[in-house]
Amino acid sequence: MKQPESQDVTATGASSPDGASDLLERPLPVVSVFRKEYVDFPMPRNLNWLWNFGALLVVVLLLMLATGIFLAMNYTPTSADAFFSVEAIDRQLSGGWMLRGMHMTGASLFLAALYIHLFRGLYYGSYKAPREILWFSGLVLLVMVMVTAFAGYILPWGQMSYWGADVVTKAVGAVPVIGGTLEHVLTGSDHLGDIFLHRFFVLHFLMAFLVVAVVGLHVACVHVTKSNNPLGVEPKTPKDTLPFHPYYTSKDLIGLIVFAMVFCVLLFFWPGLLTEPDNYAPADPLHTPANIEPEWYFLPFYGLLQSVPSKFGGLLAAAGSLLVLFALPWLDRSPVRSVRFRPICRPALLGLVIAFVLLALVGKHHATGVWMLIGRLSAVYYFGYFLVILPLASRFEKTRPLPASIASAEGDA
Ligand code: HEM
Repeated sequence: MKQPESQDVTATGASSPDGASDLLERPLPVVSVFRKEYVDFPMPRNLNWLWNFGALLVVVLLLMLATGIFLAMNYTPTSADAFFSVEAIDRQLSGGWMLRGMHMTGASLFLAALYIHLFRGLYYGSYKAPREILWFSGLVLLVMVMVTAFAGYILPWGQMSYWGADVVTKAVGAVPVIGGTLEHVLTGSDHLGDIFLHRFFVLHFLMAFLVVAVVGLHVACVHVTKSNNPLGVEPKTPKDTLPFHPYYTSKDLIGLIVFAMVFCVLLFFWPGLLTEPDNYAPADPLHTPANIEPEWYFLPFYGLLQSVPSKFGGLLAAAGSLLVLFALPWLDRSPVRSVRFRPICRPALLGLVIAFVLLALVGKHHATGVWMLIGRLSAVYYFGYFLVILPLASRFEKTRPLPASIASAEGDA
């Protein structure tokens, strides 16, 4: 029977398409759900460029999976062959250098985008009710991505892969009581060799797909709570929102083009910027490199690890710096989300960013001389921000008045 001219309304409340797609729509409302959750999805009208990073992360994640599968097809996870199989991908396989370069550049930019995405959440208070579970799912992703990146860096079995793994497994071994067992679970034997490499290859591969599953949950959470926005004031009327398509489809596309340009500049013109030359020498357990340092994105945690004068204490500080983020919804009880309206928290958050960057520099300089002092002061500030400044500011800060609505703040009351 011919469909009526006007659009039909389904049980989900969204308008259903007519004609051929009805065949799919009846057993599985794919089209109407797509319309409701993507095309017509109401987004706050005032989102800035910081809201581009979620979509960028999804795209880079897909790129990492695609290039990673190709690399896995040509990689040999044994301590004798791993380095040379990666060299063969670079030098002998057609286009292999580019796919490996994309995977390496992608890893760095993924972490960079992740830190910006997290900072956006801190700045606009996106961890506050009703988005706590969304925030937790993001933090779980952060930890999973870090583990994946660490496991991936070990696979080429270069000098930095080996000695980086040595530092981390020994740090794990310093955990009281269970440290020895944990270290053995990681290494699989009394030295870093084939068993260890095999385990980390499987871990790297497996985690990548688990990350995809958790991203699905994370994005589902965004659809339930809807997006926060730079004012931190929930949309109240349709005037405060815009449909996702075409407004945010086009905005995300522009963000993606700019990101792709940065990606290409790094990949084709500046490949040495984000990689460590020491890792282009095969792993040698008998020769410790002069400077053992992780990739740039782990430097702040490496700085924390070194600023504390005990191995286990350093490990606690590095792990605690992530764990404290899980407690944020309880530490910050202010009803105002965005730090734009919080005269104490705004400069204090800038201080947190400075402390984080300083800790990275401390990691780079191996916490020697004056860097040790800087590392300790930055570590105290980092934890002080979350455990002292935020709880006190929640009680005593005099916040600036919030606008009545998003539309009124844009002069469209
Ligand atoms: C694999 C990593 C991740 C992916 C692919 C991802 C993806 C996304 C996407 C697509 C959105 C919706 C678009 C947007 O608001 O930008 C989003 C929102 C969000 N993400 Fe993530 N995310 C990741 C990691 C994280 C992390 C580490 C956190 C922080 C702990 C986080 C916290 C949030 C929050 C709070 C929102 C809602 C923000 C708002 O509406 O203000 N995400 N994420």
